[in-house]
Amino acid sequence: MKLNFLILFSLIIICSLKLFADDTKLVKVNNSFITKFEYGELLYNNPRGIGCNSCHGSDAKGKKIVSFTHIYDKKKYNCALSVPDITNSEYDIFFKKINSKKNPSKKFSKEQVCEKLVYKANIMPAYFLVEEEIDALYYYIKNLK
Ligand code: HEC
Repeated sequence: MKLNFLILFSLIIICSLKLFADDTKLVKVNNSFITKFEYGELLYNNPRGIGCNSCHGSDAKGKKIVSFTHIYDKKKYNCALSVPDITNSEYDIFFKKINSKKNPSKKFSKEQVCEKLVYKANIMPAYFLVEEEIDALYYYIKNLK
């Protein structure tokens, strides 16, 4: 009788521990769902460095920052510094871009004077964000309405 009671008691403890564990997991999932978006938002507007929003815009859809003329080979080019929309960026491009100091080398045609100039200027600063932060940023941008 006593032993039965002990077994029953232990079973109840084990079951409630399991329930408890599942419960915390659920809460954790929910929490990190909310937190991830908010965390991403925080990082987007205030990373360690200049905020992404100041160049890519608060909706991450990019914007034209400035127009300027550029003379190359005695020809005048009307260029614009346009910051790209990053809402459709692929994760690996996104991941690499954030922490890189320089854009990888890329070929431009003769006519792409402005594009080449902007690309080579490496306007976007390099950040030092860890994977978790980049993940949250990406998550935030992908879930922007
Ligand atoms: C000073 C302006 C500036 C800031 C600040 C900035 N960017 Fe950029 N970003 C650019 C410009 C300009 C380009 C495109 C030209 C280039 O690649 O250099 C670019 C390109 C990118 C790209 C590549 C887009 C693609 O699909 O090829 C991603 C991703 C990106 N930025 C994300 C971010 C994130 C995230 C932040 C904040 C942590 C940020 N940027 C902050 C100016 C900026």
